[in-house]
Amino acid sequence: MLGRLNHVALAVPDLAAAMAAYRDTLGARVGEPQALPEHGVSVAFIDVGNTKIELLEPLGEASPIAAFLEKNPSGGMHHVCYEVDDILAARDHLKQSGARVLGDGNPKIGAHGKPVLFLHPKDFFGTLVELEQA
Ligand code: CO
Repeated sequence: MLGRLNHVALAVPDLAAAMAAYRDTLGARVGEPQALPEHGVSVAFIDVGNTKIELLEPLGEASPIAAFLEKNPSGGMHHVCYEVDDILAARDHLKQSGARVLGDGNPKIGAHGKPVLFLHPKDFFGTLVELEQA
């Protein structure tokens, strides 16, 4: 079921500062920032060849990463995203296996314009898992 690692997401308190550090200090190719108000975040992707790094900054009052940044004020690893061929088949398999799918269980359109789901971190050893239909 599980395909490639699509990205690793880092929650950061200051997107512009994180972009500058990756671009100027690490010499990475950093994409343009994007505001995603429906997800409560602004994002920028960094292409590191074999995968991507997703920088996430809170956007708006009810950002889903606000609590994470309160606990981790300098930022931290927020989730890993794996590709799947068929997200509805993956969801049904996971639910049958007892894994918890966050939200109402229906895929949302993520930062790449593709359907995504999130799985409860307590079911996967403390790591929030995103699935993206490739
Ligand atoms: Co993500």
